Amino acid sequence: MIKRVLVKFSGEALAGKNGYGIDTQILNYIANEIKELFDNDIEVGVVVGGGNIIRGVSAAADGIIKRTSGDYMGMLATVINGVAIQEALEHLNVDVRLQTAIEMKEIGESFIIRKAIRHLEKGRIVVFAGGTGNPYFTTDTAATLRASEIGADMIIKATKVDGIYDKDPAKFDDAIKLSEISYDQALTEHIKVMDDTSIALAKDNSLPIIVCDMFKKGNLLAIIKGDMSLCSVVK
Ligand code: GTP
Repeated sequence: MIKRVLVKFSGEALAGKNGYGIDTQILNYIANEIKELFDNDIEVGVVVGGGNIIRGVSAAADGIIKRTSGDYMGMLATVINGVAIQEALEHLNVDVRLQTAIEMKEIGESFIIRKAIRHLEKGRIVVFAGGTGNPYFTTDTAATLRASEIGADMIIKATKVDGIYDKDPAKFDDAIKLSEISYDQALTEHIKVMDDTSIALAKDNSLPIIVCDMFKKGNLLAIIKGDMSLCSVVK
């Protein structure tokens, strides 16, 4: 029985066709997909990236901006997205609390794990923003960390692809989807959908990672009900 999950989706997904910023139609779509879990008595934590606004690594690419500063800029971007997803969920009458890993009290509660768990138990969705609060960690790692901390049964990485392939399906017609792979295989093959740090952390905590297509309506709920056809599992 799945009781609690952490859903991670990328900032880029929010950008829609523009390639930047927040497409409110997509924001609303994502909020509805998350609400479906909530309506089925699943406790949900949410982590969103910030790539639709700025990616730390890219910002620092030419050496003018330091990597650490670039990463902090990226963390701030996830807070902008966190505020947006909080609003979109509240628009659907879902109880939601935004917690930030970097203190900014006027915008959201500070991240306090015991409080986050209490919110989940009381039937509130918790949006975790600000990454891990530290540079050099991706939002995938932040998602895996939060999933481990809240004792989630799984982390659902909602992406543009319906799973993990042996090679890039956009480039190779003969790419084969891997329905299930081990953490060790994911680490040795450096699969592109999740960075090594987050996979290693998931392995340490025996946390299954589900990589799934977020643009197939109803897919998140299908996964909870055991239909893994539009995803791959790392465990
Ligand atoms: P309970 O204590 O379980 O009743 O939880 P609650 O979240 O409803 O109570 P609380 O009084 O802590 O919060 C009321 C509202 O204020 C919620 O929307 C919280 O997200 C928000 N809130 C609480 N603490 C902070 C904070 O430090 N900063 C910001 N910006 N909002 C906060």
